[in-house]
Amino acid sequence: MTHDQPAAPRVLTAAGRFSGPRSRAWDVTDRAAKLAAAGADIIQLGIGDPDFDTPAAISEAAVAALQAGRTHYSPFAGEPALREAIARRTSEQHGVEVSPDQVVVFPGAQCALFAIMLCLAEAGDHIILLEPAYTTYDAVAQSGGGRGVRVPLAADNGFQPDVRRVEAAITEKTRAILMNTPGNPSGTVFDAAALQGLVDLCRRHGIWLVSDEVYWSLVYEGRHVSPLALSGGAEVSFVVNSLSKSHAMTGWRLGWTIAPRDLAHHLGDLAQGLLFGVTQFVQDAAVVALTQDLTEVEAMREIFRQRRDALCAGLAAIPGLEIHQPSGGMFLLVDIGDLGCDGEVFANALLDEAGVAVVPGFAFGDSLRHCVRIGFLRDVEVLEEAVRRIAAFVASRATAKG
Ligand SMILES: Cc1ncc(COP(=O)(O)O)c(C=O)c1O
Repeated sequence: MTHDQPAAPRVLTAAGRFSGPRSRAWDVTDRAAKLAAAGADIIQLGIGDPDFDTPAAISEAAVAALQAGRTHYSPFAGEPALREAIARRTSEQHGVEVSPDQVVVFPGAQCALFAIMLCLAEAGDHIILLEPAYTTYDAVAQSGGGRGVRVPLAADNGFQPDVRRVEAAITEKTRAILMNTPGNPSGTVFDAAALQGLVDLCRRHGIWLVSDEVYWSLVYEGRHVSPLALSGGAEVSFVVNSLSKSHAMTGWRLGWTIAPRDLAHHLGDLAQGLLFGVTQFVQDAAVVALTQDLTEVEAMREIFRQRRDALCAGLAAIPGLEIHQPSGGMFLLVDIGDLGCDGEVFANALLDEAGVAVVPGFAFGDSLRHCVRIGFLRDVEVLEEAVRRIAAFVASRATAKG
């Protein structure tokens, strides 16, 4: 160091953890948004932000709360009424007793996942990720200095967890398995038996199961099962959920964790240092969302089901594409390997030549490079137009090839 050139302040050791290959996952989506803003005719089937409005009673509750002056700090772990509503809804859903002290409120499931990993894994620790894995899971696993270790799930087994393969990846460095059912991007709804296998594995090896359940309401075949409902599950599980997908509330940023009884206070302490509370009027509206009946949630699920059916039928008829029909969620994986290009090349060209935005498969793991993820995020007529554009695009590539 000389007096002329002072050393730059250091930030990169920590900040570098949050980048890496998968941080480019949204490049095509971002480019699509810019093209659309400039007037291009783009069908956005990339980021999982569906086109529904939040149910009116929830928005009205937020407005009433704002007008009533609910604009102050909240208890750091969340408003008591909301923790109570989350505990009651979860208990009813899974037939188990969850107490409000197990619940900590976060601004969205993403933040909740990050917070849990900050508590569970530090330098040298491993978190098992089941591939295909949601885009942000590597960064989440690295939040406290640990790292994700991937176990690929087999497409020909419907991307169900293979407990023996997961067990083979466990070492003395493993701290947790991070999983997501219904799955993004696979749409797989984990079987209760496979999930019980993961719970048993965690108990045997003294590791945690972190269960991301943000798509719980979007199940078309089978049944959503939480590890909380399984034998021994509550003792080893941290559950993450939010209102983003179930109640069309992506922009409200309201999620939560459910932790084993004696550990929730760590997340409460973290919430104090990280957040100093979550927006009061949003929490009041969330109480309404969680105490309403499920009529609107189920109506949205039925619309998603029709969209899924239309998109799957349309894409399945295009030669060269292999689709993995999802049982839940709002996306499907499409294997484009037979077209001889990788998912990133395909997604960029599809946007430029056909105006359809999808997510390249590398976003979910290297074994998905030959795939793209397509969301059934718009009305059936729009999805049918997207299918026509994709069919013409695929046909033009096949002609160009040969
Ligand atoms: C699997 C999964 N987990 C978490 C999130 C983040 O959800 P939230 O909006 O509640 O932060 C998403 C968002 O798309 C997701 O797909």
